[in-house]
Formats: sequence, C-alpha cells, structure tokens
Amino acid sequence: MSLNNISKWKYSNFLINKSYNFDRKRILKLIPSNLLLNSNKTISNWKNYKKTPLLKLEKLNRNLKLNNIFYKDESKRFHLKSFKALGGAYAVEKISKGKKNIIISSATAGNHGKSVAWGAQRLGLQCKIFVSQYVSETRVKEIEKFGADVIRVRGNYENSLNECKKLSKKNNWIIVQDVSTKNYSHVPLLTMAGYSIMIKEISKQTTHYITHIFLQAGVGGMAAGVVAGVAKYFKRIPKIIIVEPDGADCVMQSIKSKKLKKIKIKKESIMGGMSCNEMSLIPWHVLKKASDCCVTVNDSKVPKTVAMLKDKKLSKKTIIGGECATPGIISLISLCNNPKKKKLINLSEKSNVLVIGCEGNADIKLYRQLLSKGRK
Ligand SMILES: Cc1ncc(COP(=O)(O)O)c(C=O)c1O
Repeated sequence: MSLNNISKWKYSNFLINKSYNFDRKRILKLIPSNLLLNSNKTISNWKNYKKTPLLKLEKLNRNLKLNNIFYKDESKRFHLKSFKALGGAYAVEKISKGKKNIIISSATAGNHGKSVAWGAQRLGLQCKIFVSQYVSETRVKEIEKFGADVIRVRGNYENSLNECKKLSKKNNWIIVQDVSTKNYSHVPLLTMAGYSIMIKEISKQTTHYITHIFLQAGVGGMAAGVVAGVAKYFKRIPKIIIVEPDGADCVMQSIKSKKLKKIKIKKESIMGGMSCNEMSLIPWHVLKKASDCCVTVNDSKVPKTVAMLKDKKLSKKTIIGGECATPGIISLISLCNNPKKKKLINLSEKSNVLVIGCEGNADIKLYRQLLSKGRK
C-alpha cells in the first residue's frame, strides 16, 4: 500500500456556506461560556483524566505539502475510546446533582450510550440504554460492561429514541440525550460543553495557529461543541469544514436550503455514529453560520484509511482510528486533489490543519474487519 494511490481520492459533494459569519459572541450565547468553563473544571478533576494526544500526520503532510496536519487522538479518551466520554458522562453528573435514587436512560448509536452508562456507573446509578437493530452486538457488550441494562428496539435510531421516551415517562427515568429539540436543550448543551474540552486541550498543546478544522458530523453535536471551544479558547478563527457520509448529509442539506432539513437515509453508512437524518437544533443554529463549507464522502476509502493509520503510512507512530475517525482525513486528501477547491479554501504550505480522530476501535469486531479489508 503506497501513499501514491491517494492522489486519485475524491469527495462526493462540496458546498460553500453562503451564510458564513463566525461570531464568537453569538456562539457563546447559544452554548454559554460558563458551561464550557464548568465542564472543563469538572472533567479535568475526574480520576485518570489526561489530555488526549495531539499527534502529527507527518507522512501525509509530506505528501500533501501543507505546514502541519494535527490529529487529536480520542481513542485515548479515558478508557472509552471516543470523545463521547466527555459528553454523556458529564451530563449525567450535572443532572443527577448527587441524588442516588434516580435511574438514567438514553438512546444511542453506541458511543453516547457508553458514556452515559459509564457516567451512571461512576455515581452508582442504575442505567437503561436503548439501541436500534443496527447497533452491533459488540457495541452492546461494551455498554453492558459499564453496568447498564441494554434494551434492543426494532427499527432505526428514531424508533429506539421513541421507545426510550415512552418507557422513561412511564417509569420516571431521567433521559440523558445528546440531541437537542425545541423543548429539550439543557442536557444536550451539557454534552456539547463537554466536547469543547478537546479545543481547550489543543490550545495548550501547540503554539501553531490552527488554520483549518475538519469536523465530522452526525447530528452536529461534536462539531458545535468544538466550534464553541474555538470561540472561547482560540485567538484566531480557523476555517470550519463539516464532513459527513454522502448518504447522511443532513448538515449539508440544511445549510444549502438555509433551514433545518430532515433527509432520508437510503443505506446506513459504515460510519455508524454519523449516519443521522436530522440535525440537533442548537448545533443547527451554531453551524448554519460558523461553518465555512461542507464536504461529503462515501464509505469506500474508510477501510484503507483505518489501515494507513495503523500501519504508520500517515504518521511515524501507529494510530488506532475507527470508522468515524477517517472522514476528516479522506476529505482533506480529496480537497487537496482538487486544485480549484484547494485554493478556494486556502489550503497551502502555510496551513496547520486539525482533524479529529474521534474514536478508536470502539467496535473491535468492525475495526478488525476494516483493517483486514484496508490492507488488501
Ligand atoms: C465516533 C463518533 N464520531 C462522530 C459522531 C458524530 O457526532 P454528532 O452526532 O454529535 O455530530 C459520533 C456520534 O455518535 C460518534 O460516535
């Protein structure tokens, strides 16, 4: 496997956001500054808290001829193997306010539920996690390891959420969800505040000004949390590039039509955590102005990227990056392969690009399959 092949990689779709206007004050009104400070203070005091590594993809950088490509390695986030550890578990702590006689519930595609289960276990609370038929057995086992009861629901994520709401209402369980709607925003805000810690850490891990950030989006929670972190902690504002699977491009479609758009997913992406059909409401209000552009990619380069990370083709060190950790790298390579787009978004030898390695081998069975396919 050589890096030469990457010169042929292509993205699926690209969109410039015509409503772009990064306004720190507006963003920190939507995701308040005091929440960001509190999440950082709380989480950095948890046992075994450590900044996750900010690695460099030196070999990829030599190939693409930028200044730096940084990779935030969230496979090392506590022992949960994804950035989601920062969100759900923190929300459980804030919402339970020291009470011991409550039961926490949530619906999940995997990583969020694991974080909620861990958060409940840390505090000695019972926990019920709802998953759809598409969530793998490996992910279910991972959640059960943290002491939660997992309830499988026929259908997709939306069905699992509806069942979670129904049973939680009936049994007085407290829902900790990461998706905000008109009448449900406080808990998702807490999760997003938790995610902003990645940027707080990066602001102390390099003296380079980051010029571009590639942000994976499912419902947009991670991207909005990171954007809030940028508004709060970075001196200079980088270009914000939203990355999605091409069959689950709800952010791109919403930005294109300047209103929240629900899309139809015809085929679930292998990037399961990002296979979402509708944005969370607060992330929509943040990203509709704070993102410079959107790019979508298909699943075809996911296995190869997993293998290249592991086999030190992109960096000097081996990196464990799961399926959702790959699309930032795939879209960076693809945009560099298109001279017009590369120029349009100012990618040059002066660029310090940040990609978020948002998960490690969180689904170990799928990871092994992708690795083996990518090495062929
Ligand atoms: C590993 C990983 N990356 C990215 C995402 C997308 O995050 P969001 O839905 O907050 O946009 C998820 C969501 O579950 C995830 O698990």
